[in-house]
Amino acid sequence: MPHEEAMFIRGPHEPIAIERAEGAWLYAKDGRKILDGGAGAVVVNIGQGREEIAEIARRTIAKLDYIVPVWTSPEREALVARLKKWSPEGVDRFFFTSGGSESVEAALKFAILLHKVRGKPSKNKIIGRQFSYHGNTIAALSAGGSGRRADYEHVLLDWPKIPPSFCYRCPWGKTYPGCDLECATVLEKTILENGADTIAAFIAEPMMGSSGAAVPPVKEYWPKLREICDRQDILLIADEVMTGFGRTGKRFAVDHWNVTPDILVGGKGLTGGYMPMGMIAVRSDLVQEIERSKADFMFYTYSSHPVACAVADGVLAIMEREHLVERSATIGARLGAHLREELSGHPMVGDIRGSGLFWGVELVHDKTTRVPFAPEKKVTNRVLGAALRRGLFFYPSSGMAGKAGGDAMMLTPPFVIGDGEIEFMVRTARDALDEIGPSL
Ligand SMILES: Cc1ncc(COP(=O)(O)O)c(C=O)c1O
Repeated sequence: MPHEEAMFIRGPHEPIAIERAEGAWLYAKDGRKILDGGAGAVVVNIGQGREEIAEIARRTIAKLDYIVPVWTSPEREALVARLKKWSPEGVDRFFFTSGGSESVEAALKFAILLHKVRGKPSKNKIIGRQFSYHGNTIAALSAGGSGRRADYEHVLLDWPKIPPSFCYRCPWGKTYPGCDLECATVLEKTILENGADTIAAFIAEPMMGSSGAAVPPVKEYWPKLREICDRQDILLIADEVMTGFGRTGKRFAVDHWNVTPDILVGGKGLTGGYMPMGMIAVRSDLVQEIERSKADFMFYTYSSHPVACAVADGVLAIMEREHLVERSATIGARLGAHLREELSGHPMVGDIRGSGLFWGVELVHDKTTRVPFAPEKKVTNRVLGAALRRGLFFYPSSGMAGKAGGDAMMLTPPFVIGDGEIEFMVRTARDALDEIGPSL
């Protein structure tokens, strides 16, 4: 059976057979060398091909393959001890999964269970944001607001949504300063409209990822969300699956504003792609409440898998030893400056935003009015095709242009890239835009 028929996953372009990878570079079967400007799906933070991690995985597999997740292992204990140093203070009880969606699912269930054991079972809805992605399982998809919901709307849970913070396209037409942060206060309005006694939690990406392309909010936004959640007895869940583990130039994006969420969700960068793994970090006092109640928080078969734990611990050890969070901040600032220098005048570029090594370039039909391209033009995919022909992959995203989705490139490379690679990335992105622009 040909490869395309055997595959189950739709891609925007011809699938490329990649045979090996090293650092930020992918080597294809057809001889192409491609710079991974997206770090895969914003995953490969420490770069690929680390022998040290291969050795850790080999050693662990030979010694201990699997245990039921209610038991423990030295690998899990080492990871937990390390994660306590990474996670926000007091958010230091961990539950491990095999990826982001499972972790979001665990976070939502934890919030719902907590209110139930407190004698408030009616507090069981989750508020999310209109532009967001929290994963692909039914509850995670219900909490999110991306176009990926489309074919499943009829079975998704009917949970309220609020507009996100995005100053570039502020739905209230305000820009900072003078902004009264309607995007945050609307959360409280939505809670009250639905009745605070029906809401378990609010979930959001601290900086919008795939459904908006790296959008940092104003610094007042998350502290205000925290205040509102406290006042209304709603848990605050920070979905850091994409932004966590140094991606935005801090350990976690919430560290930019010193906000402590009740639950922090992680994935992707936790293992840098070397092993499928996700986690939730939860406020310890909340976990104690569940424990006292004797309620059951069921594990997944692969929760705390020893090999995944060992690999995550090894990846985070490399992050620490090579100061990669700091590097994400410094080299990311250079990437941002370079993108702005080279692309802000481009007729197709509506906005350039980001933090650390988390950058989004929004593509628009009209630079002045910010009118997006018609979705059927598939601009992002065509620009990606042109970039790939020149040896660059970026993560395709949408630019929050409304229900239609919009177009955007995400430039989110591994933290090990150098200045030469940054130059190549920006130059190639510009050449790809120049190639596609005239045909639109
Ligand atoms: C913010 C966010 N949450 C959750 C997920 C789901 O993670 P996974 O694809 O590992 O299930 C993603 C995936 O892109 C994500 O970006």
